[in-house]
Amino acid sequence: MGNKVPKASIMIGGAAITAVALILNQRRQRKNSNKGQNQLEQTQTEQFNEEQVPQEQTSQNVQQVINSTENQNPEDSNSIDSISFINRVNKELKAFQEQQVPLSFDVLMKITEAGFKLVARNYSQMQNKNRNERRQLLNIPQQYTLKVLEFNNELEILINQNQLDICKKLRISSEIYENSFVLQFQTQAALERFIVFQFSMRQQLIASIPSQKEINESQLAQVADIQLKKLDDIQFFKNYLQQLQGEDQQFSSIIITVLLSDIVYQQLGFEEEDILKAVLAYPVLKNQLSLIQQKVQAVMEMCFQ
Ligand SMILES: *[C@@H]1O[C@H](CO)[C@@H](O)[C@H](O)[C@H]1NC(C)=O
Ligand SMILES: *[C@@H]1O[C@H](CO)[C@@H](O)[C@H](O)[C@H]1NC(C)=O
Ligand SMILES: *[C@@H]1O[C@H](CO)[C@@H](O)[C@H](O)[C@H]1NC(C)=O
Repeated sequence: MGNKVPKASIMIGGAAITAVALILNQRRQRKNSNKGQNQLEQTQTEQFNEEQVPQEQTSQNVQQVINSTENQNPEDSNSIDSISFINRVNKELKAFQEQQVPLSFDVLMKITEAGFKLVARNYSQMQNKNRNERRQLLNIPQQYTLKVLEFNNELEILINQNQLDICKKLRISSEIYENSFVLQFQTQAALERFIVFQFSMRQQLIASIPSQKEINESQLAQVADIQLKKLDDIQFFKNYLQQLQGEDQQFSSIIITVLLSDIVYQQLGFEEEDILKAVLAYPVLKNQLSLIQQKVQAVMEMCFQ
């Protein structure tokens, strides 16, 4: 039972996340018309987005995640190799088999997190390669967009594969893993928690790249300024986003933020990991950053009108 079509679960993983995005997007639109916006909703558009500047909650998450990455001791009850975790999984597997109780949200998130951590080992190398390749294509929207999508896809597959490997070690069949996800994500609250969680994992990947530059507060303000100005140029983004067909349109916010990061790099030589570090150091600029996120959303809406 453990070796049943891993390919299917990659698909289901992808589909589940897409469904989550759709549901939340609909909800956000409804809320927007009521002018009620909270922090969680702002994070909703960003769930695929590994390049976005964080908000307060996510920066806390990043710190937690960075802390826990350093904590890989098997005696630690947070580790998926710990006896207590394995015992817990076995108990939950029994409950699934006897009463169809899905694996707990907590166990599913631990496995997801462990998958991201495995990817983090190679992420810096992968990201640097993609940066070099795509920056040479910056003026060719079609090829640039393809490069960004290709990287995102590669990353998704790698994360999924790692999760399945971890499941195998824990003797969780891909079927039980997938079914548990589906059952757990039936509630809105669980979906939202998952999205915030995924977002913070993506941030952690960025944070796993060693930062080479110190950015001070006025330089960070300059970064925000460049991005805000560029976001006024709707036609610029349209050239790239119109390359996205069908389901690929869900990646528009990724394309926009990757473009913004490449433009900042071109002008100031700062990478995302430098900026992320500065954002954590200077939370004063949080308002600027949430303004950028609102503008990204607005650009997306205008490009697809
Ligand atoms: C992370 O670790 C640092 C230093 O060990 C500590 O000061 C900080 O409170 C921790 N943060 C979280 C969110 O656990
Ligand atoms: C990740 O890196 C390790 C060692 O650096 C290597 O063995 C492995 O093949 C890499 N995996 C991918 C998917 O690049
Ligand atoms: C920030 O760094 C730049 C470049 O190193 C420097 O010119 C500027 O004076 C610094 N600003 C502050 C407020 O430290």
